[in-house]
Amino acid sequence: MCGIVGYVGRRRAAPVIIEGLKKLEYRGYDSFGVATSCSGIEMIKRQGRISDSGDCASELSGFAGIGHTRWATHGVPNDVNAHPHTDCTGNIAIVHNGIIENYIELKRLLISEGHIFLSETDSEVVAHLVEKYYKGDLLKAVFLATEKLEGSYALLVICGSEKRIIAARKMSPLVIGVGDGEVIASSDMTPILEYARKMIFLEDGDVADVMESGIQVYNEKNPVERSPKIVEWDFESAKKGGFDHYMLKEIFEQPDVFYKSFSSEIDEGSMLDLKKASCVTVVACGTSWHAGMIFRYLMEKYCKIPVRVEIASEFSNFTPLHDSVMVAVTQSGETADTLAALKSAKKENFTTFAITNVPGSSVTRIADHVLYTCAGPEISVAATKSFTAQVAVLMKIVSCLSENFIEKELLGIHPLIEEALLFDAQPAAEICRSANSLFFVGRGVYYPVSLEGALKMKEITYIHAEGYPAGELKHGPFSLLCGETPVIAICTGDDSYPVMMSNIKEIKARGAPVIGIGSAGDIDLEEICDIYIPLPKSSGICEIVTASVILQELAYKTAVLLGRDVDKPRNLAKSVTVI
Ligand code: M6R
Repeated sequence: MCGIVGYVGRRRAAPVIIEGLKKLEYRGYDSFGVATSCSGIEMIKRQGRISDSGDCASELSGFAGIGHTRWATHGVPNDVNAHPHTDCTGNIAIVHNGIIENYIELKRLLISEGHIFLSETDSEVVAHLVEKYYKGDLLKAVFLATEKLEGSYALLVICGSEKRIIAARKMSPLVIGVGDGEVIASSDMTPILEYARKMIFLEDGDVADVMESGIQVYNEKNPVERSPKIVEWDFESAKKGGFDHYMLKEIFEQPDVFYKSFSSEIDEGSMLDLKKASCVTVVACGTSWHAGMIFRYLMEKYCKIPVRVEIASEFSNFTPLHDSVMVAVTQSGETADTLAALKSAKKENFTTFAITNVPGSSVTRIADHVLYTCAGPEISVAATKSFTAQVAVLMKIVSCLSENFIEKELLGIHPLIEEALLFDAQPAAEICRSANSLFFVGRGVYYPVSLEGALKMKEITYIHAEGYPAGELKHGPFSLLCGETPVIAICTGDDSYPVMMSNIKEIKARGAPVIGIGSAGDIDLEEICDIYIPLPKSSGICEIVTASVILQELAYKTAVLLGRDVDKPRNLAKSVTVI
């Protein structure tokens, strides 16, 4: 939620920061701002997106600076609430990602001491607190200011003409890339990759003094060593590469992403702990939760191990199952709800696993074991390749625990996903674009596949869409069915085929158009559906993946026909670091 970038080095800071913020826009895009330190602070901040703003900040001089792209929490998106925020003298500027929970009491105190606030944000208190403690030593002032803060923060602070940034982290991600005579700090690695491969992932409570010559990290005011990691992520893969949207590019990366994620070995320690599990609890949000639901069906079918799958924000409302291992599934590794559930599971002595896409992310520091998805950077807010990669890793676990029962088929999935990508989504998308509401239905493992299809559709097209178990529509939602509520039904040749066909006939009898996604050559399905989309010819397990890919393409095409902002849908952010 919100992206921040800071730069100190031999280049002019503003252009580097602006380019970096453009890469972080998926984290929030309602307003932006940049401040540099040269002969004093120079600053520009505006409502709107940095990608639409031309080079408005490029005239800022200075070789050190900070920037922010915002997803509003406290105060509407406008020029004043945009970051950076400054102190009363305009000599100190800060950017903040996170939430300062005690900002009201701090603001009251600071106002009583004579500070003048301009914005409605929680973040502005940080600038005034640093001002309060600043006696010529910025590092010391940030030490003292952060002691007073409750909540979460990734902070970058600059002052006057100093060629230096002070960075601080607590429960919000902050990575610092150390290049040759330049250092760049950011909410994630994508803005850094062009300048540095050596990354330092700050830990909670860390404060870093960032200069062009390098960085010194402190924790509880004492110097600490944070060993850098070399990140191999491909810089090119964070670019659009000729596709109209990141989402489309990411959909097309899935043959490789699935293969790489599925063929990665699970380390011995993780395997040992997985084998001990008599049941598994999965926690996740959104798309990652759907991947967890798919895992449940497969684990129970192939391994006979019960799996409980909880929406992370609801986890604390239930009694934890002991003798269960917990698997937190999170693309970003930073989702606050998922991290909270994982932390509480650790207190309950669960053995914990994280499945994540982002090396060094917060979840990797909490879980006992980490399994990485190999999706590479995912820029579009809508998760596509990261979902497929999660499903691949979860299928790998099932495969290993069931003596590689499904391995051979899944290792051969590459051409099948490629074939699914050739599907022409236009005719089905034409039906969806004019719908009032859409239902996605399936049975068994295709229920979570339907949930994911509906989430993708509503997220990027703004059409109301719901995923349902096909057998459940008759228990209420049937009253909504009419000619304007198309139903997307996934009906493959598995055990539930006969009942699924009956469900489709019941839907048709109520006047709703049906788009049927089913196994190749199913003439019966073709006959009863308005549109029949055949899956590439394969076994059942691969159809889970190819059907998911087809639903992504359908959502994408519908969003394009409606002229939506596919990669940055309204009101959303990719990384949700608030509870
Ligand atoms: O980074 P995470 O996997 O923890 O994110 C969880 C959800 O916020 C995320 O999957 C969200 O639902 C996606 N935007 C869906 O496309």
